[in-house]
Amino acid sequence: SLSLSVSLSLSLFLSLSLCVSLGVGTPTTEQEPYLSLPESLRICATGQETFPGDLIPPGARAEVVAKETRIKSLKEMPGPSAVSNLIEFFYRDGFSRIHEIQMEHSQKYGKIFKSRFGPQLVVSIAGRDLVAEVLRTEGVAPQRGNMESWKEYRDLRGRSTGLISAEGEDWLKMRSILRQLIMRPKDVAQFSDDVNAVVEDLVKRVDTLRSQQSDGLTVLNINDLFFKYAMEGMAAILYEDRLGCLENEIPQKSQDYIAALHLMFSSFKMTMYAGAIPKWLRTVIPRPWEEFCSSWDGLFSFSQIHVDKRLGEIQDLVSRGETVKGGLLTHMLVTREMNLEEIYANMTEMLLAGVDTTSFTLSWACYLLARHPEVQQEIYEEVTRTLGHGTIPTADDVPRLPLIRGLVKETLRMFPVLPGNGRVTQDDLVVGGYFIPKGTQLALCHYSTSMDEENFPGADDFRPDRWIRKDATDRVDNFGSIPFGYGIRSCIGRRIAELEMHLALTQVGEPHTHTHTHTHSIFLTTVSWVILIPSQIDNRFSNLIL
Ligand code: HEM
Repeated sequence: SLSLSVSLSLSLFLSLSLCVSLGVGTPTTEQEPYLSLPESLRICATGQETFPGDLIPPGARAEVVAKETRIKSLKEMPGPSAVSNLIEFFYRDGFSRIHEIQMEHSQKYGKIFKSRFGPQLVVSIAGRDLVAEVLRTEGVAPQRGNMESWKEYRDLRGRSTGLISAEGEDWLKMRSILRQLIMRPKDVAQFSDDVNAVVEDLVKRVDTLRSQQSDGLTVLNINDLFFKYAMEGMAAILYEDRLGCLENEIPQKSQDYIAALHLMFSSFKMTMYAGAIPKWLRTVIPRPWEEFCSSWDGLFSFSQIHVDKRLGEIQDLVSRGETVKGGLLTHMLVTREMNLEEIYANMTEMLLAGVDTTSFTLSWACYLLARHPEVQQEIYEEVTRTLGHGTIPTADDVPRLPLIRGLVKETLRMFPVLPGNGRVTQDDLVVGGYFIPKGTQLALCHYSTSMDEENFPGADDFRPDRWIRKDATDRVDNFGSIPFGYGIRSCIGRRIAELEMHLALTQVGEPHTHTHTHTHSIFLTTVSWVILIPSQIDNRFSNLIL
């Protein structure tokens, strides 16, 4: 199905963090610790509390350092052997069980362990406080992983990098522009009406799909439904345009695009290897690289069509002396803080990053609701008590719906669509007592930290209310669950994704008056290549409130 193959798309981040990019990147050598005491203090100073033993008060540092005698080397770090890793990933298809492997390895080797993928060494961090240590010590332009193949394609075609693929100064410039536009809740609130128009179409589509089933209630394959919703929502926000994905008759142009996406994502697993195959081998095995390039060609050209369309409209308005009003794209085209190629690249990368992440989270949320009618009931009561019957919520209403927000957070805790993330260390670091040289690829194990009992008691239980603050001093957020990443390089689309999910779930995820949403059939062989997905969920929707 379309939605399944789409899940392959987010090789984005994790081709990096999981270092599937075999052979690309600079292999990290397992250096012996060579630091004298003053040097070790210097590297600790890159973060606040980064000395082994975790969270040592600064005043106590000198004394502890004296007692802690030795920083361990990477050689001493436990982890699976290169051979067992090869078997796990290539023979046992470990790529589709990344979340399970994280759990197994962290139970076996501890909260910090190393793995080897060919010449590439990866240090996995599976402890909440260690993850916090790493992310809190980040510099001004953190690097997630090796983006060489992405850059190579862009150089080849004279394209720009976007936020995901850019590094250093280029990244900083684009990030600071986009941060001003889509990171603050109040900026994103202005998209409420656009998103609600899409939610309205989603609700109509649910009705249509139900009417096509013999029981009049079931919607087959809600992944596909939410994929179309997320596509439509992203197009409304990014391109200020509609694609018609939720209509009964999808316009031919949009169908072509969906087909192109389908093709692109279905070949992604193969293209993952594109960057891994050394350039000299490309003449012998040309297909992965060719497909990689043609996938990107398709994505770029789709964005370009929409950006150019809006640009033409703006030029028309200007030539007629009329005022230009609009949203995100209009702002970017008018201010030209980024050049046109940078706008194409960012629109392309944001669309790629924003669709299946959001849609699969919605699918998981509906799956969890279907399994927990009591939670549906509580959410329903919260929504009707707060908004009254039939009111369409806006972004301003969401803070008054803590359970809807808790639902999204809890769904992302239990099913983080990106079960891991990556960082390449920008300085020498000491983490968990080990010396980690600059340039090491780290894999941050979101899934295992979010399912750790120490971080979330009753971790297997679905409890959206665990995210509700009891009073102003209550702190419920923690580094155990950071599904959008953390810090200056965290997900730029977080607020957009949340808006799309909150507004949809308030209307579709609600238990509908007296009856409940049921799961019709579920195959829970989760996880795809890199993102955690349900294989198929068919939900039975009772009376929608609208
Ligand atoms: C449920 C939905 C989503 C989840 C769970 C998610 C998760 C993530 C994560 C984990 C990262 C890496 C952060 C880090 O390295 O610290 C990321 C980065 C990114 N995401 Fe999202 N994302 C979602 C939706 C979106 C949407 C809707 C957009 C587009 C509007 C988007 C655009 C991006 C971009 C451009 C980056 C790269 C940021 C940078 O490198 O500066 N994401 N996302």
